[in-house]
Amino acid sequence: MKFFVDTADVGDVKKAKALGLADGVTTNPTLIQKSGQDFKKAIVEIARCIEGPVFTEVTREDTQGIVKEGKEFATWASNVVVKIPITQSGLEATRILESEKIGTALTLIFSPTQALLAAKAGASYICPFVGRLDDISSPGMDLIGQIVTIYSNFPEIQTEIIVASIRTTVHVLESALMGAHGVTIPFKLIEQLARHPLTDSGISRFLEDWKKVR
Ligand code: G3P
Repeated sequence: MKFFVDTADVGDVKKAKALGLADGVTTNPTLIQKSGQDFKKAIVEIARCIEGPVFTEVTREDTQGIVKEGKEFATWASNVVVKIPITQSGLEATRILESEKIGTALTLIFSPTQALLAAKAGASYICPFVGRLDDISSPGMDLIGQIVTIYSNFPEIQTEIIVASIRTTVHVLESALMGAHGVTIPFKLIEQLARHPLTDSGISRFLEDWKKVR
């Protein structure tokens, strides 16, 4: 399973890379704003740091505008993937960009039928958002289960499911159990995934016992 880092902070990308957990990076306008960095500079720096895809989100909403912005992003680095909110214009732009061999990731996916349309448009990736569904009392992971089933029913679908808006380690666990292609998570969740209280107490006990035999 692929581990993407959900950040625009190159420091977090480097830390995840050292752990072998930076198969890609996902950014969005909110994360860019939080990082306080210049948009292009941040993307170029992250793209230099990893070999995998760096999802870079468009802000234009019309088809031609999305295509223009996407083509410009694609000149910044060879591993830039154009991230596009799923709308009718977004689907049209996806078809155009993919036909010109520019990778796309359709984002803000909240229903299985949106995921189906994204696959039909030839998107390389989709980002279904689970946490924001949980926020409105609609189980986010049910969406992932349905998308995995639909995509498995049609083996010709090549679109990869990168589960996004992940808030908990259980979201990561369930994504893996369901067979999603990947997850995108903030670095703080990687720290949580690595830890277990029994590991901590086990280390303490081994070290205390070791002191007694020396
Ligand atoms: O990758 C999408 C993610 O950044 C959105 O997360 O927590 O704002 O729903 P969140």
